[in-house]
Amino acid sequence: MRRSLMLGCGSYLPEKILTNDDLAKIVDTTGEWIEQRTGIKKRHMAAAGEKTSDMATAAANKALAMAGLKGSDIDAIFLATTTPDNTFPATAVTVQDNIGMGGKGFAMDLQAVCSGFIYALATADNFIKAGQVNRALVIGAEHFTNLLDWTDRTTCVLFGDGAGAVVLEAGNDGKGTKADRGILSTHLHSEGAYRNLLYVDGGPSSTKTTGVVKMNGKEVFRHAVTRMSEAILEAMHENDVDASEVKWLVPHQANKRIIDATAEKLNLSPDQVVVTVAEHGNTSAASIPLALSVAVNDGRIQRGDLILMEAMGGGLTWGAALARW
Ligand code: UT7
Repeated sequence: MRRSLMLGCGSYLPEKILTNDDLAKIVDTTGEWIEQRTGIKKRHMAAAGEKTSDMATAAANKALAMAGLKGSDIDAIFLATTTPDNTFPATAVTVQDNIGMGGKGFAMDLQAVCSGFIYALATADNFIKAGQVNRALVIGAEHFTNLLDWTDRTTCVLFGDGAGAVVLEAGNDGKGTKADRGILSTHLHSEGAYRNLLYVDGGPSSTKTTGVVKMNGKEVFRHAVTRMSEAILEAMHENDVDASEVKWLVPHQANKRIIDATAEKLNLSPDQVVVTVAEHGNTSAASIPLALSVAVNDGRIQRGDLILMEAMGGGLTWGAALARW
């Protein structure tokens, strides 16, 4: 049965670091407040002139190296971003050129803010299952610090820049059971009635400006725990998997309190959860592949482990994916 195997992953964080104490010099906040309420200790910031496509390319090249492939081996790029280099063309086509795919295949951007990686993974998985793509790069990349209002302490302390990528390849060896490697299922949701809880107050068709992030943090927090738990349960039920079979939860990294509350709700022990938010803050679509790369590279995630990924973001959008690494 045709399934998307996860061959490799990679990530990239810009060199420049902004600590909580650095932020306390810019806005009315303290390092303790940020760490206690979010678990974030620092975030990375792209260098002047460093674009989303540059970060995406760096992460993609590492994922390709782990997979033992070249850019020319890839048929399609699905790049999740809220912060494209330009309004158009898609940032993915720049990555297509950068990694040497030439005119082979196709490349597209997807926009689901912090749920973007799950949306891109689901899209790539479905193209692969349909037989239209054999090898795909799924990337989450964000230059989120360019969307921040540095006078708004309720948002500017939360986000950072970075990128992560995964290489998928069609495999036909398994019987399509939960014991086989690859993506078992993906689950996407959105509810536009909640779009004003988290949004950017600009755009080409409204203000003709880029705009800055606006968020009702408390409401987003409340929805995050409920929606992500629902999506996780949906993935577990569909595959007849219980919490003891899940080796790792690789959640969207927005707030450690959200991650802890979600894991607790699902009876997952803290040792089963990959938490990297302290190191890079909320990197939106990049956060799941960033966390995945850390846990694969430090040896926690091993071949054959069952991993559960989940995210929620502006829209509201949310979703989950269950995969055997
Ligand atoms: O990726 C998906 C998108 N985002 C999220 O998932 C974020 C979801 N929300 C959250 O993570 C949390 O709601 C926040 C971290 C944003 C805020 O934490 P909270 O515990 O919900 O705090 P709060 O908004 O209830 O604010 C508590 C107090 C307020 O002061 P008063 O009204 O109690 O006097 C805020 O003004 O903390 C104040 N505050 C701050 N103080 C110091 C808000 N931001 C800051 C800050 N430094 N940076």
